Order: sequence, then C-alpha cells, then structure tokens
Amino acid sequence: MALLPILCYPDPKLHTVAKPVAEVDTRIRTLISDMLETMHEAKGIGLAATQVDVHERLIVMDVSEQHDDPLVLINPKIVWSSAETHLNEEGCLSVPGIYDGVERFDAVKVEAQDSHGKLRLIEADGLLSVCIQHEMDHLLGKVFVEYLSPLKRKRIKTKMLKAQREARN
Ligand code: NI
Repeated sequence: MALLPILCYPDPKLHTVAKPVAEVDTRIRTLISDMLETMHEAKGIGLAATQVDVHERLIVMDVSEQHDDPLVLINPKIVWSSAETHLNEEGCLSVPGIYDGVERFDAVKVEAQDSHGKLRLIEADGLLSVCIQHEMDHLLGKVFVEYLSPLKRKRIKTKMLKAQREARN
C-alpha cells in the first residue's frame, strides 16, 4: 500500500475526462487499495482516480461512521435518478477547506463493477447518493466549485493558489 499525491484545484489535470477501466486486474486492485489508504489518511469519504492523476473510471468511497465499509465503483453509470433534488453542503479533498452548497438528486441507482469485476446495482440515497454524484463528476473532469458562481470560483482559485504557494515555501 502507498499514499498517493492528491491533485489540488485549480490543477488543469483535474479537468481530464477519464476513460473506462478495460480490465479489473492486479494493477487496478493495487490502485484501489492505495486510493482507499489515501482517502482514509486524508479523512475523506470519497476519492476518484482523477484526483490521484489516474484517468480511468474508478471511484472509492466510505461514508460509514466507523470508516470500515469501503465501496468501490468501477465504470459507474447512473441508471436512475430521483425527481427530487436537494442542496447539500459539499467539500472535496482536491479543494481543501472549502465547503459550499450543490444541488444533487436525492437518490440514484448506479450500475458499476466491483473490485472483482462483477457488475452490481447500487441504490443510494442520503450522503452516499451525494458522494456518488460528486465523485462521478470528477471522472468527467468536473470539480464541485464549478457549480458555484464565477465570483465565488475566482475567490476559491485565488485562495487555493496562495495556499499552494505558501506550502511550497
Ligand atoms: Ni471531490
């Protein structure tokens, strides 16, 4: 297992569109365990491969209270979404310290392969539903701050660049 560096907004690599995972093999299973370790270490509840600069359709999540119930989605596809939406406060490991409201479907059904390559249907609501939609956006090269107003986004960008400059010094 290894900790992977997480790309930080506004790194342009975060806007890469991920390709499907061709085969769930040893390389992918190693990536999954490294991503889970990286996510837990960073105290996150979700991490998309895009955020560790691997541009393949893979997500790891753990929304359980004890952080002991990991969920892996490979090549996820939303097959149903609820009519109801809700404004939820979101954060992101790629935009540390920033939290803001994003409108998401209350519930979704997602088809995805698990870490054995087996196709599964996941029915999600609440936090898991929000997390899935947030992480799937990453695979399309979309960061949650892109839902915010241009002014807010500009402020966040400035703040992030300043923090990154300070971290380097
Ligand atoms: Ni995120």
